[in-house]
Amino acid sequence: MKDIEIRSITYGSDEYEKSIDLRNEVFRKPWGLNIRDEDLTGDKHMDMFAGYKDDKMIATIFLTEDDKEHARIKSVAILEEYRGKGLGSYLMDYVEAIAKKRGYKKVNLMGRVSVEVFYNKLGYKTISEPYDYHTIAHIDMVKEL
Ligand SMILES: CC(C)(COP(=O)(O)OP(=O)(O)OC[C@H]1O[C@@H](n2cnc3c(N)ncnc32)[C@H](O)[C@@H]1OP(=O)(O)O)[C@@H](O)C(=O)NCCC(=O)NCCS
Repeated sequence: MKDIEIRSITYGSDEYEKSIDLRNEVFRKPWGLNIRDEDLTGDKHMDMFAGYKDDKMIATIFLTEDDKEHARIKSVAILEEYRGKGLGSYLMDYVEAIAKKRGYKKVNLMGRVSVEVFYNKLGYKTISEPYDYHTIAHIDMVKEL
């Protein structure tokens, strides 16, 4: 991924605003929803990262903590035209390495059922029945680091 740069995003910055637009594009607009109708203040407590190609933000991935043993990955979003080229795996590896370095033993995430196989291939196991979140079927998943 030599043409991809990963940068940290600061809450409230211009880049943070772009990350909201990107997540809206990927996670809400296709279902007629608007992420800006939601309370996003929880983002304050995330380590937020974005992937850039030629200085354009094309992806997001966030890291947070559930408890001392468990990190949590959230907001894994890649603009459509950049999918299927290994970027998702690259971002997941990047953030998992940070979690491991910080001493977490496991990573939790809430995955869309439609991308369960993507996470399975990265070593995540499904630990819940499917449930609805913003009208979309999700499952809880976990990986041992
Ligand atoms: C899901 C997503 C992050 C995957 O990123 P990506 O860059 O397309 O994935 P990669 O190219 O790294 O794929 C890695 C592997 O997972 C597989 N994979 C990726 N998306 C998949 C999907 N939707 N269904 C099944 N397999 C998938 C790839 O075929 C590849 O398999 P291989 O290693 O055998 O070749 C990306 O497609 C995306 O942003 N989708 C829309 C938003 C979304 O659903 N995010 C997850 C919310 S929980």
